[in-house]
Amino acid sequence: MNIQASTRSFRETDAPVLVVAVFKDEKADGGILQELDNLTGGVVASVIDGEELKGKDGETAFLHLAPNENLKANRLLLVGVGDKAEYNAQKVGQLAGTAARFCRSKSIKSFSLVPRFEGDATEVAQIAATGAILSLFELDKYRTKDKEERTIDGFTLVIENGDEKAIKKGLERGQIIADSMNFTRDLSNEPGNYLPPAEMADRAQKMAGEVGLKCQVLEEADCEKLGMGSFLSVGAGSEQPSKFIILRYEPANRKASNKDLVALVGKGITFDTGGISLKPGENMDAMKYDMTGGGTVMGAMRAIALLKPSVPVLGIIAAAENMPDGKATKPGDIVTAMNGKTIEVLNTDAEGRLVLADAVAYAAKEGATHIVDMATLTGAVIIALGDVHTAILGTDQEWVDEIINSGKEMGERFWQLPLDKEYFELIKSPIADIKNIGTGRKAGTIVGAAFIAEFAGETKWAHLDIAGTAWHDDAKPYRSKGPSGVAIRTLVNLVEKRSNS
Ligand code: BES
Ligand code: ZN
Ligand code: ZN
Repeated sequence: MNIQASTRSFRETDAPVLVVAVFKDEKADGGILQELDNLTGGVVASVIDGEELKGKDGETAFLHLAPNENLKANRLLLVGVGDKAEYNAQKVGQLAGTAARFCRSKSIKSFSLVPRFEGDATEVAQIAATGAILSLFELDKYRTKDKEERTIDGFTLVIENGDEKAIKKGLERGQIIADSMNFTRDLSNEPGNYLPPAEMADRAQKMAGEVGLKCQVLEEADCEKLGMGSFLSVGAGSEQPSKFIILRYEPANRKASNKDLVALVGKGITFDTGGISLKPGENMDAMKYDMTGGGTVMGAMRAIALLKPSVPVLGIIAAAENMPDGKATKPGDIVTAMNGKTIEVLNTDAEGRLVLADAVAYAAKEGATHIVDMATLTGAVIIALGDVHTAILGTDQEWVDEIINSGKEMGERFWQLPLDKEYFELIKSPIADIKNIGTGRKAGTIVGAAFIAEFAGETKWAHLDIAGTAWHDDAKPYRSKGPSGVAIRTLVNLVEKRSNS
């Protein structure tokens, strides 16, 4: 998408459609709305006074205008953005998304956007670019008819008298982040037969080549040598070989004083049948998204490689397919992870923690000082937090807070769950070091996290359970339903802030 900055008046922008934000209950009796009302012969006031548009979030009114030498655009799209007091950068993203989707639905290929937001120009531009690009993502890749073939060529962000350099910087950053999120969303949406672990590894390798990351793929035999019995137990019942994917970002401009190594670690279960502890048939198809933690690592690493922060980042994706078969791991089997801990596998459907055990242990062994893992780990988190907040848990409060605060800046919400030592009692096994499920149905999300914590050693560690937030079941005016790309922005911001501090 070609995104331009304009610091001139909205009157001069010559895109086919001028898009303007309208606040809740705002009248056309002042500012830009009054100006537009004057230029359009009273049409804006009549739409608002007639209550065709009340300025509620996502509401739209589309007006064709009579030619006017003082206004170059000949169509006007008014988009409600809700309460003025609550207007923020995230709302600008939704505004841009609503505008892009609306214009596409009318076969209009470009627009100019007047966000009416008085924040930091780079921040506004970044979120506007991200919002527009994300909004156009669709789930119809495998349809041969009734596909959304229309596209938006680009848009112009209009910030009158704004700092053009600052706006352009934001637009560029926003495009990198959104393209990386769409990269991840595309992976999440891939069905299991199109994206087995080997394909995930191929895509990681291809992406790494394009953006300048190092990529190494460990085969099952390599993992065996490293003692990754926990990881390998998950793919044992699958015809598809497991792949342990390692991405490395090494900055050219590394600060010698900074010895930290952040590791992003993701659950990459390309399909989760539950294994011998087979899941019920209903909605099992949703488990194609069970690799989203790994996909999120890939998307975040892509953006990081392009934004070039001055700190190194390690990315790890533990990719496997969880299937029942004669060779599959059985309930009661005992496996040994690479850190030597023995695990009683009481439920083969609690497989995410098994692959993360070795992935987190590997990151710690590689010298990571800070680990954050992400996974569609538990159904329990969907019951607890829905698709609004991502659950976060960790062993180091400063590290957890750093992630939560990074999320706040990017408009992503995290809710911390506790990880007291009592929860670790629930994963004690009578016959091995730990078991992979809790006792009864208690504290499902916390138990999953406690299990993974056992493999982080002394390294600062946090865990994101994205099972609820990685997929939206409903469409909004600014996005399709489906994979969300959650956490990528937060992780990229997290790394960049470390680079700048
Ligand atoms: N991938 C699932 C988690 C999941 C379940 C995500 C439903 C979205 C919707 C995970 O591997 C799993 O099956 N977890 C079990 C754990 C249980 C056996 C302790 C779960 O949440 O039921
Ligand atoms: Zn499972
Ligand atoms: Zn799973």
